[in-house]
Amino acid sequence: MFGAGYVGLVTGACFADIGHEVVIRDVVPERIERLRAGEVPIYEPGLDKVLERNADRIRFTLDVAEAVDGADFLYVAVGTPPTESGDADLRAVWSVVDELPEEIPGRPVIVMKSTVPVGTGAHVRARLDARGLTGVGYVSNPEFLAEGSAVADFMKPDRIVVGAFDENDGDRVVELHAGIETEVVRTDVPSAELVKLAANAFLSTRISFINEIANVCELVGADVVDVAKGVGLDHRLGPHFLRAGIGFGGSCFPKDVTSLKQLAGNSGYQFMLLHAVWEVNELQKRRVVSKLQKHLGSMRGKTVALLGLAFKPNTDDMREAPSRVIAYRLLSEGADVRAWDPVARPGDLPGIELCDSVLEAVRGADAAVIVTEWPELATLASSEVRDAMARPVIIDGRNLLDPVATRAAGFVYEGVGRPRHASPAEPEPARDAEVRA
Ligand SMILES: NC(=O)c1ccc[n+]([C@@H]2O[C@H](COP(=O)([O-])OP(=O)(O)OC[C@H]3O[C@@H](n4cnc5c(N)ncnc54)[C@H](O)[C@@H]3O)[C@@H](O)[C@H]2O)c1
Repeated sequence: MFGAGYVGLVTGACFADIGHEVVIRDVVPERIERLRAGEVPIYEPGLDKVLERNADRIRFTLDVAEAVDGADFLYVAVGTPPTESGDADLRAVWSVVDELPEEIPGRPVIVMKSTVPVGTGAHVRARLDARGLTGVGYVSNPEFLAEGSAVADFMKPDRIVVGAFDENDGDRVVELHAGIETEVVRTDVPSAELVKLAANAFLSTRISFINEIANVCELVGADVVDVAKGVGLDHRLGPHFLRAGIGFGGSCFPKDVTSLKQLAGNSGYQFMLLHAVWEVNELQKRRVVSKLQKHLGSMRGKTVALLGLAFKPNTDDMREAPSRVIAYRLLSEGADVRAWDPVARPGDLPGIELCDSVLEAVRGADAAVIVTEWPELATLASSEVRDAMARPVIIDGRNLLDPVATRAAGFVYEGVGRPRHASPAEPEPARDAEVRA
């Protein structure tokens, strides 16, 4: 397994759990040292237990030769982040291919788990052949796990997609999953590559769609939660990914939408729908700031508590998280920004004060924003929190709280696409002198 990140570690650990011998190779020495010491360098529920109970079947190494020696499969699970052009950055993938030894006995199969543009398999095949590694097979086997439920997703996947140049290589990859009951979709390599990008682009499209419906709800007095329920009960549509909020983030959706949009563009087709999906998502994050301004006037000198930093609950992953855009926007408007998250750390986000508890984050704050729907925040609308805040304003970016109960508890509350039946106690939005001027 090349790559000890979210995908590599989970896939490696789970393959060991169904009885295989696994060697996991990474290029970051500290990561490998921690794994050898029994530490898990990422937060993924249940992963520690799977690694622990399979410790005698998993080795960690920095050494390519050790990883390749005797391997039947060479899984690639390295990062493929976007470049500045929006194309996927495949440098880590190429580093795996180029570091393979000159001669590899037997017929190991390279299995591509990383999400890559269509055509990557053909490029890898050509590069292997040019190096004389014609005996090394290649299979595209995209990964659909979701952070936060990754172990369960591996054990009970919706499907396994296997795209092969050589049917025997594909058969071997399918056999490797023996014991996992699910539908197997056999395709050619380009189709397997496109399944992954299309699936993530479609999920992102659903999110942007329901967010636009929410924005319309705010103007016409409808409630997006009821609208989404009514829409999602249609068996042709289903209820998933119809929760309005402050937009999608994470290491996959934004990158895969851009990658597919870019891939289509490079191939001569403008994927207009994805342009809109992207723009809607960017605007959705920023709408939080205008909602805050509506209640607080100018943000200069105001203190805002961001509750949640991770792009979704049950992960510490902050890549492309909406919290990043909201934090930068607030800082640029002159606000003081505090944050609380049970596991994510702001890392490279400058100028944010990290708090140890929700109460510490909201104490003296002019507003609190629910950015990530951590379960701990379900009880936010308490008298303790209300009394601790300078102004009891909650912007609920995930529609986690009940609007009526939250307003009844004395908060000024605004969700996403929820009707504004203001309670009599709810004060008028504050207006700063500066804004009036
Ligand atoms: N995270 C997800 O939820 C998810 C889900 C499905 C697919 N994917 C895709 O899987 C791929 C990996 O994603 P991730 O989130 O696990 O990334 P990650 O950044 O968490 O992990 C990648 C790891 O690869 C290592 N690496 C880089 N070059 C290497 C090399 N030459 N040899 C060995 N290791 C090397 C890095 O040090 C890092 O530890 C991406 O293409 C991503 O799009 C991710």
